[in-house]
Amino acid sequence: MTHNLGRLEDLSAAEPKLVEVDGLRLVLVRVGDEVHALDEMCAHQGGPLSEGKLSGARLTCPWHGWMFDVRTGQCLMPTRGGSVPSYPVRVENGDILLER
Ligand code: FES
Repeated sequence: MTHNLGRLEDLSAAEPKLVEVDGLRLVLVRVGDEVHALDEMCAHQGGPLSEGKLSGARLTCPWHGWMFDVRTGQCLMPTRGGSVPSYPVRVENGDILLER
């Protein structure tokens, strides 16, 4: 099933956005004209990644500063490990679509 998560033009490249879809809480992040979706809960202690700081493709959790690559969900602090689930998202005619 395809879920429409909104318009690309409404998603700021500077700010992650929380969306709820199909029982999931996801954080949407725009990098250029691409959009990535990660689980909203930080892999460390469940901090709200939608309130994190975005720098390019790097999202920093507001609670204790763990950093994640939004393209993969991988934690960028190798000694700490962990990753958050990521979900495939595509942009079609300006609509952000998630297949699930
Ligand atoms: S809960 Fe995210 S860094 Fe601790």
